[in-house]
Amino acid sequence: MGRVYNFSAGPAVLPEEVLRQAAAEMLDYNGTGMSVMEMSHRSAPFASIIETAEADLRELMAIPDNYQVLFLQGGATQQFAAIPMNLMQNKKADYIVSGSWSKKAFKEAQLYGEARCVASSEDENFSYVPDLSGLTFDADADYVYICQNETIYGTRYPSLPDTGDIPLVTDVSSMFLSEPMDVSRFGLIYGGVQKNIGPAGVTIVIVRDDLVREDVLPFTPSIMRYTTQVKAKSLSNTPPAYGIYICGLVFKWLKEMGGLAVMAERNREKAAILYDYLDQSELFRGTARKEDRSLMNVPFVTGSAELDALFVAEAKSHGIESIKGHRSVGGMRASIYNAMPKAGVEALVAFMAEFEKNNG
Ligand SMILES: Cc1ncc(COP(=O)(O)O)c(C=O)c1O
Repeated sequence: MGRVYNFSAGPAVLPEEVLRQAAAEMLDYNGTGMSVMEMSHRSAPFASIIETAEADLRELMAIPDNYQVLFLQGGATQQFAAIPMNLMQNKKADYIVSGSWSKKAFKEAQLYGEARCVASSEDENFSYVPDLSGLTFDADADYVYICQNETIYGTRYPSLPDTGDIPLVTDVSSMFLSEPMDVSRFGLIYGGVQKNIGPAGVTIVIVRDDLVREDVLPFTPSIMRYTTQVKAKSLSNTPPAYGIYICGLVFKWLKEMGGLAVMAERNREKAAILYDYLDQSELFRGTARKEDRSLMNVPFVTGSAELDALFVAEAKSHGIESIKGHRSVGGMRASIYNAMPKAGVEALVAFMAEFEKNNG
């Protein structure tokens, strides 16, 4: 069987060129006679892999010198705890809750200090991003927290909150490297890589120097202290070495594609193909508010649970995989990350049109 169009929300599609290169290097990485999987993380070849990966990521995102880049384990979920543990010097933080992931992060932060929900869109099943105008933050807050792209509900922030001098923390798991971002607007940017960058097991944290602090909450495990990992250059313990290698290959791929501005253009074009179809369809409709639509995750429904199930089942025979929606929205969800080719979105829309003709 050939490759399918994989619309999974994560772990998700990776560039075929990267997978082919990894396959070619599987038994003998760069003349070392071994796989990266078999290699000491203290070896010279691995040092070169992680250093090159960091340099390429810095170049892609134009990360200023006063930010540290960490390649960690524990998933984005571990950062839900690590962020308050490391940053809550005043034990106060303001959270904007725009979906399940920011809600989980907010609940976790409440374990460690006075986390406050300053705005929420739960009243309409997180189908929109809360209005930020007129929002005020606690002047003593250690940080303001957002999840910039909510994977489940398919929303993204159309603009960022103005937090003044309060550091803004963002979870970019499901939009990492999908478009350029101004790193200097944030105190901390983080995400799991298993959606847009690499295999599950690597979490990237980009943190401003002044937030890498010794005065963390006293019970913070050493492995979860940013100081520990910054001093050790992410090698405090065995890192997710093979995953970091794949991330490095994806960074090279992104550079060859022309960088993040080119990816953003491609992503806008792909998303428009799907949204334009949804907007004129009489059977399907997108569930997120138009102004807040994600370019990465596109949930949609027919309005009938039976038709949704039939769509998901029939999609398979058209080479369309993992299109079933998350249970909290229902229906379908197409995740169209960087590595999803335009032809995949076109194939999906062609199948939707055929399905609509037969079932509309
Ligand atoms: C936006 C967002 N944040 C956090 C998570 C949790 O990530 P992990 O499973 O790596 O802990 C996910 C998805 O899995 C996500 O989509």
